[in-house]
Amino acid sequence: MANTITVKNPATGEVIKEIKKFSQEEVETALRKGFDYFPKWAKTNAHKRSELLNNWAVKVRENKAELAKMMTMENGKPLKESYGEVEYAASYIDWYAEEAKRIYGRMIPANTETKRIIISKQPVGLVAAITPWNFPAAMMTRKAAPALAAGCTFIVKPASETPLTGIRMIELAHEAGIPKDAIQYVTGSGKEIGDLFTDSKYVRKITFTGSTSVGKQLIKNSANTVKHVTMELGGHAPLIVAKDADVELAAKETVTTKFRNAGQTCVCANRVIVHEDIVDEFAEKFVQFAKQLKIGNGLDKGVDIGPIINKSSYEKIVDQITDAKKKGADVLLGDQFDTDEEKDYYFVHPTILNNVNEDMDIMHEETFGPVAPITVFKELDEAVKLANNSPYGLAAYFFTNDYRTGIYLHEHLEYGIIGWNDGGPSAAHAPFGGMKESGLGREGGLEGIEPYLETKYLSIGNL
Ligand code: SIN
Repeated sequence: MANTITVKNPATGEVIKEIKKFSQEEVETALRKGFDYFPKWAKTNAHKRSELLNNWAVKVRENKAELAKMMTMENGKPLKESYGEVEYAASYIDWYAEEAKRIYGRMIPANTETKRIIISKQPVGLVAAITPWNFPAAMMTRKAAPALAAGCTFIVKPASETPLTGIRMIELAHEAGIPKDAIQYVTGSGKEIGDLFTDSKYVRKITFTGSTSVGKQLIKNSANTVKHVTMELGGHAPLIVAKDADVELAAKETVTTKFRNAGQTCVCANRVIVHEDIVDEFAEKFVQFAKQLKIGNGLDKGVDIGPIINKSSYEKIVDQITDAKKKGADVLLGDQFDTDEEKDYYFVHPTILNNVNEDMDIMHEETFGPVAPITVFKELDEAVKLANNSPYGLAAYFFTNDYRTGIYLHEHLEYGIIGWNDGGPSAAHAPFGGMKESGLGREGGLEGIEPYLETKYLSIGNL
């Protein structure tokens, strides 16, 4: 088996770089180093950890142009989105640099005069992370920053499609003064390294962003050593447009959530559920806005939609469109592809399907591409039923100007992240994560540091 990984530009199929695959021994050495360094990092005072994290954020911003270009080349997303992601990644470091100083314990009043009860927090230990290709910088800092802030050491395996951005981010952490053994990376096969992570007696926590099937395997494998797990898994976000919605706003925000990163995000709106009285107006506006999106190489000026990451993802998208059309869906836009199998690049034009129903695969399988299926509802509880009819529970969106409808939907949608008249709810200062098979735990916000901490209870008696 080759001991290198070939990193390709998905917009052209060209090879960008060959990088080494870590051997089993090298991965084990890295884990050992992270484990050995843990007590030292945990003892580094919180203000110092915060200062080092702040230095890292400065370095990331100083190198924004280089990181953004690298990200567009290996991931394909438009350069403006890559700039946005570098800033998004830095915002997690900013946030957790501050949270490092706010890891509070508490004192509980005892039921006798001779006792004191003290609760304190301590870092869980060495954290092993596996990060995805769709957000190579932000999904890493969303895990690394709270881990380091809490006093944990950290090791990451970046996705093999897009390792260069993650590696550069780690180098910048070292340049910022974060000790080499406090934050490390390893590269190689996801399955092999995942197994080494979950089997390792040195690792106390696994954190993963990726597919539900891989997440389930990691959870199972982590059970042998009862590791902590945070899982940010698949999604199949519904987007409900109520009868009283501002249709223009709904259409614009649907474009924002649906076509970000060519539809390759876990929180993309994947099922557009519109009240039957306004569906024609909504569909017309949605098509009008989506038509303006320019498709192409993300490095070219004005491009809004880049390529699909690889052939198998592209084929899944085409299968969903074909299945929907066969079962009666109408194509309002797109269903067009620019591909070259020999060169190995695959572009899918923004595609909008109407008259979609629950018999179609696209309503049940996660869509990781720029395809939006529209279906209709009459009564609100029908929309909720459709929306909740999924094993996933990551993100949901709804558009309404009626506060009663809004509160009803908020209370009844079984989703961890909800955007009300908002197609872009993600933020470093808010908890991101899903219900049901979309995951375990939250990343970001106050909640995002908790999974890296143990609670210790001290009872002092006989005073
Ligand atoms: C994801 O797709 O998993 C992350 C998207 C985000 O943070 O907004």
